[in-house]
Amino acid sequence: MKKIIIGSDQGAFELKLKVKDMLENMGYQVTDCGSYDPSSVDYPDIAKDVCVKVLAENTIGILLCGTGIGMSIAANKINGIRCAHCTDTYSAAMAKEHNDANVIALGARITGEELAYCIIKSWLGAEFQGGRHQVRVNKMMELESLDK
Ligand code: RB5
Repeated sequence: MKKIIIGSDQGAFELKLKVKDMLENMGYQVTDCGSYDPSSVDYPDIAKDVCVKVLAENTIGILLCGTGIGMSIAANKINGIRCAHCTDTYSAAMAKEHNDANVIALGARITGEELAYCIIKSWLGAEFQGGRHQVRVNKMMELESLDK
């Protein structure tokens, strides 16, 4: 079964529950890293838990917060994560086809739930195209060990 790891802060708690249902209905085995109730949490903690699991299980993840911005910034601090903050379906598809994004971040206060479902489906349905994009992805990943 295809695995996917999800997480949200309070800004997207309700959306996360709906996204989880959608993914399960699509046949995914979903691991929810929290939060587990609508009370306030710090989004970097959730981003870390989701991304560590994505890497450990060699799978993909979805991060949801108010804007998607904090989650995506936090996720991209973690070596091995390529997180795309998506607000439209074209970007979501390109994030997989060109950037091989293993995580996407959406904002529940920005993106309505129906569009969020479409964005997630576009990303899940797309395939990394490799070739010249692999060269560029490799160069992005080399930036993780940049000698500053
Ligand atoms: C929480 O209020 C909010 O800051 C968070 O959900 C997110 O939008 C951060 O980028």
